[in-house]
Amino acid sequence: MSFTVEPGQTVALVGHTGSGKTSIVNLMSKFYRHNGEAGSAGEHGRILIDGYDIDRITQADLHRQMGIVLQENLLFSGTVMDNIRFARPEADDADVIDVCERLGCLDVMQQLQNGLGTEVGERGEALSMGQRQLVCFARAMLARPRLLICDEATSSVDTVTEARVQEALGHLLEGRTSFVIAHRLSTIRKADLILVVKAGRIVEQGTHAQLLALGGTYSDLHAEFVRVSQGEQSIL
Ligand SMILES: Nc1ncnc2c1ncn2[C@@H]1O[C@H](COP(=O)(O)OP(=O)(O)O)[C@@H](O)[C@H]1O
Ligand SMILES: [Mg+2]
Repeated sequence: MSFTVEPGQTVALVGHTGSGKTSIVNLMSKFYRHNGEAGSAGEHGRILIDGYDIDRITQADLHRQMGIVLQENLLFSGTVMDNIRFARPEADDADVIDVCERLGCLDVMQQLQNGLGTEVGERGEALSMGQRQLVCFARAMLARPRLLICDEATSSVDTVTEARVQEALGHLLEGRTSFVIAHRLSTIRKADLILVVKAGRIVEQGTHAQLLALGGTYSDLHAEFVRVSQGEQSIL
């Protein structure tokens, strides 16, 4: 597979479970090592960031510039404030409030029992899934990463409306080079580049309009997504 992403672009990775989406972002984060040798081109493959081979960048240096939001949100017991601040311990309360405001979710946080001082409980179980997602977005936003990787959670019926989570994600992606393993049609449609992954290969790449016009794998996946999201709307 081969693809190029320009600074600030949002890339959506789409494809069925097991197709290789997580593997791609794990390679980029150096959680996995690719099989090639440092500096070698061609058959073994290379991953370059700003022209630098990631083999020559330490994982620590890479991660300092990278935000990662996982599908299973990692919250620890403590307050909402503590959980957000974890990304940048020197940040003060005003920084945390500012980030929530910029994500458009400060009111959601303030409506919690004790606002930003609410204890989230073991693994965040005192919060709804949507609320947990917003906390993780705020945490990622506070870190100001140049690169963002987001394994988007599938939408769920929740006290935090789907629209709020979508809006916050949009703000988080703004002006940042982002890779989203996308499960929401809205995220996919807005992406600058969609990579369609199938059996370990990128079988199609382009924008939503370009790929729909192709009438291939993406267009089939899209039809599936539409069916699923209509099903969810009828549950609501
Ligand atoms: N560490 C690994 N070693 C070998 N195979 C793996 C490893 N991780 C995942 N796989 C396999 O690679 C394929 C792609 O997995 P993954 O990237 O997790 O897909 P997706 O995120 O699209 O669901 C799957 O067949 C999976 O079983
Ligand atoms: Mg995956």
